Amino acid sequence: MFSNSMISLTTAVFALSALTTAAPRNMDERTQSRLSLTEQLQLADLTAERYALLPNDSDFVYDYNKSDTGLADRKSFPALEGLGGSLAIADFPPCSMAALHIHPRATEIFLVVSGNIITEMIPEAGVLTANGTQRVIRTELKPQQMTVFPQGAFHAQINPYCESAQAVAAFTSDNPGAGFVVPQTFALTDEFVEPSFGGIIKGEDLEKVRHAIPQAVVFQMDECVKKCGAHKKA
Ligand SMILES: *[C@@H]1O[C@H](CO)[C@@H](O)[C@H](O)[C@H]1NC(C)=O
Ligand SMILES: *[C@@H]1O[C@H](CO)[C@@H](O)[C@H](O)[C@H]1NC(C)=O
Ligand SMILES: *[C@@H]1O[C@H](CO)[C@@H](O)[C@H](O)[C@H]1NC(C)=O
Repeated sequence: MFSNSMISLTTAVFALSALTTAAPRNMDERTQSRLSLTEQLQLADLTAERYALLPNDSDFVYDYNKSDTGLADRKSFPALEGLGGSLAIADFPPCSMAALHIHPRATEIFLVVSGNIITEMIPEAGVLTANGTQRVIRTELKPQQMTVFPQGAFHAQINPYCESAQAVAAFTSDNPGAGFVVPQTFALTDEFVEPSFGGIIKGEDLEKVRHAIPQAVVFQMDECVKKCGAHKKA
C-alpha cells in the first residue's frame, strides 16, 4: 500500500516537473515554415506549449478596424484555435439584408449595438405554431437587445430603416462556417431544383431566378433604398 502511494507520488512529482519545464519541441524549420500558425497551434503536444507560438502579447489582440471580414476566427486570429469561440462585428448599412444562412458548427448569440435590426429564424422541422404551421421566430431588436440562433438554424437579419445599424455576433466554435440557403439551393442541377419547387419554376424561368439571387452575404434591398432616397448613406 505504502510503496504504491510512494510510486504514484513520485510519478506525480515527475509529471509536475515535466509540466513546469515544458518547452515546445523544436519543429523542423522547413516543416514549420510550411504550416500556418493555426496549424502549428493545432499540432502542439500540450496546450501550455502553444503559448510559445504566441510570444507577443499583441498576438492576443484582434483589431476589427483592420479586419477584412469582420470575423475573428481561428484562421484570422490564431489565438482562438481550439478554444471553442469566435466573434464577428457586422455592419448593416441602411436598407441591407444579411442573406438567409446557417452556421453548421456554432450557435450564434447576436447583440445589436446601434440602430435597429429585425431577425427571422426557423430552428428546425417540427417547431410549429399552435395551428400546426411552421413557426418563424421573429425579433425586432433595438440597441442592447440580443437573440440567439441555435446551431444549424436558418436565420436572416434585415435593417429595413434609413439609418445604419451594427451588431456583434458571438459563436460557440472557432470555426463556425456558414451555408447560404438560397444560392446553395439553386446551385443544384435543374433535375433537383425543379421538383423541389413542385415543377413551377423550370427552364428559362429557373435561369432568371438563378441570375436574380444576390450572391453577396450582405446586400441592399432595392425597394427600401428607393423609399429612403436621398436619406441613404452607408
Ligand atoms: C512582436 O510584435 C512586434 C510589433 O508589435 C514585432 O515588431 C515583433 O517582431 C514581434 N515579435 C515576435 C517574436 O513575433
Ligand atoms: C477603430 O475605429 C473607431 C472609429 O470607427 C475608433 O473610435 C477607434 O479608436 C479605432 N480603434 C483603433 C484601435 O484604432
Ligand atoms: C397560424 O398561426 C400564425 C401565427 O401563429 C398565423 O400567422 C397564421 O396565419 C395562422 N395560419 C392559419 C392557417 O390559421
